[in-house]
Amino acid sequence: MPHISLNNLSISYGNHKVLHEVSVDIPDSQITVIIGPSGCGKTTLLKSLNRLLDLNDDVSVKGNVLIDGVNTYDPKADVLSLRKKLGFLSQRPYPLPMSIYDNIAFGPKVHRLTQEQIVQQIRDLEGRSFQVPERKNGAMDVLVESYLRLAGLWDEVKDRLRTPASRLSIGQQQRLALARALAVEPEAILADEPTSALDPLSAQLIEKQFKFLRNNYTIVVVTHILRQARRIADYVIFLYLGELVEHGPAESFFKSPKDERTRAYISGEIS
Ligand SMILES: Nc1ncnc2c1ncn2[C@@H]1O[C@H](COP(=O)(O)OP(=O)(O)O)[C@@H](O)[C@H]1O
Ligand SMILES: [Mg+2]
Repeated sequence: MPHISLNNLSISYGNHKVLHEVSVDIPDSQITVIIGPSGCGKTTLLKSLNRLLDLNDDVSVKGNVLIDGVNTYDPKADVLSLRKKLGFLSQRPYPLPMSIYDNIAFGPKVHRLTQEQIVQQIRDLEGRSFQVPERKNGAMDVLVESYLRLAGLWDEVKDRLRTPASRLSIGQQQRLALARALAVEPEAILADEPTSALDPLSAQLIEKQFKFLRNNYTIVVVTHILRQARRIADYVIFLYLGELVEHGPAESFFKSPKDERTRAYISGEIS
């Protein structure tokens, strides 16, 4: 599990500073939820963790993000392996223009896993007590089925694995995106409002999978839906106007907030 730690992290777009000296440790093997009103810097914070922010050209970062003690913003940092370690789910799913099966097999293929490595990956899944099908088929079939199960999608797609992923409903596509993220064996999943484009039932299925996965992955979810935060959070980070106002275990955060702004936010007085 990666240990993620932010130290005095400040981020600006041009000369607009949107994140102010944020320091916080993100607990391993739990669901951390980042909440706060629109525009307060949630996406910026999330994307800073695996350097997806680099895709903006006028962004500047001060302070640091340590992943397992290694500074993400060290010029020598290996950005590709960082992004492999911290998988990302965006607001809308973007399935690859290929079959359901190939969407999942894509990652392992891109990383050119050998047959031996695929078998090892299957053993790792078994080692974490995940349900893995019998190995009567090829190893890649086993891997694809395993990740579709981890994403809670297998039963809905097992009879149409070779059909285009684009035919799935958007809710199913989001779980496919989760399966695809898991297939490159990340240690953490970063999700930016992953249910905002989904109907309530599909949203519930994503929440259920996060809870199912939380002991084995560090999960960081951005949301502006307080009820969702209450349902899934083990740990909460509250941002307001780019400032880290309060953070802590979900129970005490919601029950006895320390900061007046937190109290006002969770009671709905400010949004
Ligand atoms: N690429 C960008 N260029 C300039 N400003 C940006 C960019 N992305 C976000 N911002 C600004 O940074 C602030 C924080 O945005 P964001 O991190 O997206 O907040 P949130 O996800 O909480 O809605 C907002 O004021 C937003 O307008
Ligand atoms: Mg956002």
